[in-house]
Amino acid sequence: MAAALALAERGRGRTAPNPNVGCVLVRDGHVVGRGWTQPGGRPHAEAMALAQAGDKARGATAYVTLEPCAHESPRGPACADLLVQTRVARVVAALRDPDPRTDGSGFARLYDAGIQVEFGVLEAEARRSMAGFLTRLAHGRPHITLKLATSLDGRIALSTGESKWITGPQARAHAHLERARHDAILVGRGTFLADSPKLDVRLPGLGDRAPRRILLSSTGPTPPGWERVADMRDVRDLSAIDSLMVEGGAKAATAFLRADWVDRLLLYRAPILIGGGKPAVEGFGLAALSEAHDRWRLLDSRLLGSDRFEVYERNACSPES
Ligand SMILES: NC(=O)c1ccc[n+]([C@@H]2O[C@H](COP(=O)([O-])OP(=O)(O)OC[C@H]3O[C@@H](n4cnc5c(N)ncnc54)[C@H](OP(=O)(O)O)[C@@H]3O)[C@@H](O)[C@H]2O)c1
Repeated sequence: MAAALALAERGRGRTAPNPNVGCVLVRDGHVVGRGWTQPGGRPHAEAMALAQAGDKARGATAYVTLEPCAHESPRGPACADLLVQTRVARVVAALRDPDPRTDGSGFARLYDAGIQVEFGVLEAEARRSMAGFLTRLAHGRPHITLKLATSLDGRIALSTGESKWITGPQARAHAHLERARHDAILVGRGTFLADSPKLDVRLPGLGDRAPRRILLSSTGPTPPGWERVADMRDVRDLSAIDSLMVEGGAKAATAFLRADWVDRLLLYRAPILIGGGKPAVEGFGLAALSEAHDRWRLLDSRLLGSDRFEVYERNACSPES
């Protein structure tokens, strides 16, 4: 399943509105097929792995990061049917698919055909991998990552607005990798005007992975090559955006925090002090310190060059967000 999850990562940020799934077929201790959801959402991971395995799929175990789909579409067959037709012996899935068109019926179809089914293997990891798809289904909005590059004293720019660069080259390269994993990136008009950000992916081999660029501005105009939303909640209506990275500035970040829409926090912290300058976020309506505690859980922490990189995941999503 870990190998299937690694394959699933290849599709992350490119498969919306479909989930980025990974699949590994194993027979007699050998991998006979590998697949991952292709850009645009089709072919599905299972279809790719089965095509690769050919006759060797018969009697194999399929490790798949999401319940095989039970719904046909004009763009391809139902993966549960494909697995039945090729007579795999066993399907191990990480997660049941909450999409109402499948939601248990993919597993049922496999059971009915005499295929052994297990699920719940590496479920938490699979939830993280497909957070965009799952958040869209559960909350009707994209999964939102807020990225902040700050000084030790929590500043994102000097008071003059200068912010290039607070962090070093390793941290910036890592942020580009994160861009490649998202469907879209959003900045506020203040950042657009101050930094003219390209928001592309300047990493060897990943130049074609630049996400869509969204400008948050009620005053327009929409620059060429950008899409614009006048209100942050309008990101719900952008098609095929299930994962969104907010890259600032402070006002845009604050708007998403105030709405309680930030699911994941990426903090790149440089070993510098700025003093004064622009705080990373403004007030977002906290009434008491007790409200601030237990909201964020540290998932990862490491050094990137001389900068400290931390990933936080929020503990729970309120039902309305
Ligand atoms: N270090 C970092 O990680 C980092 C990252 C990005 C930016 N920065 C720095 O941050 C500074 C810019 O930050 P900023 O806070 O001044 O501006 P900002 O957040 O980039 O943009 C603010 C603008 O976004 C628009 N907006 C629309 N709806 C909004 C809403 N609901 N809430 C808030 N804004 C909304 C408004 O534009 P309209 O008036 O057009 O509606 C508002 O003026 C720059 O100095 C930049 O260099 C640093």
